[in-house]
Amino acid sequence: MWDYNPKVMEYFLHPKNAGEIENPDGVGEEGSLACGDALKLTFKLDKAGRIADAKFKTFGCASAIASASIMTEMIKGLTIEEAEKVTNKDIVDKLGGLPEQKMHCSVMGMEALQAAIKNYRGGKEKQPQKIEGKIVCTCFGVTDKEIEKVIIENDLDSVEQVTNYCKAGGGCGSCRGEIQMIINKIRGKKEKGAEAQAKPKKLTNLQKIQLIQRTISEQIRPLLKADGGDIDLIDVEGNKVIVAFRGMCSQCRTAEFTLKDVVEAKLKEFVSDDIVVEEEKTMIDEPHIHKEIKRAEK
Ligand code: FES
Repeated sequence: MWDYNPKVMEYFLHPKNAGEIENPDGVGEEGSLACGDALKLTFKLDKAGRIADAKFKTFGCASAIASASIMTEMIKGLTIEEAEKVTNKDIVDKLGGLPEQKMHCSVMGMEALQAAIKNYRGGKEKQPQKIEGKIVCTCFGVTDKEIEKVIIENDLDSVEQVTNYCKAGGGCGSCRGEIQMIINKIRGKKEKGAEAQAKPKKLTNLQKIQLIQRTISEQIRPLLKADGGDIDLIDVEGNKVIVAFRGMCSQCRTAEFTLKDVVEAKLKEFVSDDIVVEEEKTMIDEPHIHKEIKRAEK
């Protein structure tokens, strides 16, 4: 038995707005009986363009009924623009919380609302719902776009959480690897954004050299090594960074491109916008290492 709070139980045992509106202005259907949860939402607007009535029909558990029921109450009186801002988080908050494993019921409520709004905007004729994105979880018919949306909106970071929110991964499990890849991709973007924000405004010379070295070893060298090349940091003079290509990169005809579009671009991204990169042209046995670089390496 799930641990539902009294408000969820109240909306489950005495649901408000159950049923279907005749000649609705918007109809949205989400889920499928095959997946164990399905929700149909209908709404009607008043003359001022506000939602005058909303009803739902659902096949699902207590939390699906409670989520749909409270959502119909929440959207009454709203304009379409206001209603489309309602998220699954708003539904969960209004209910006072749902068990983690039942979060997908709130997502289904939000998606049925969005589908109904889309249907309203597409005209009175019910449009067949177009699947957006590529199906990742065939067991539950969940696309990559839907998975990305629940991850971003609910700040999820595990496959298990994704399953709780949209069911993807909760059947045969063969899509779990792909879900993890989507999580990694989104987390990578977030970390990059945080790193960019955390980029200190004014670096000391030593900090700058350390950051340049780190960017070369973590961001640039792996790219060059993948093509049999390598790179050494030779010197830093103000915003001028001098590097030497090694291996395949030293003979490569596209070295100029690599210098600007890979090395300089990465250093601009991770260190400073005004970095200019130049290549050390002369062949030297022992690269001259600036004394500050030596200090930075310690
Ligand atoms: S394909 Fe996703 S659980 Fe089976």
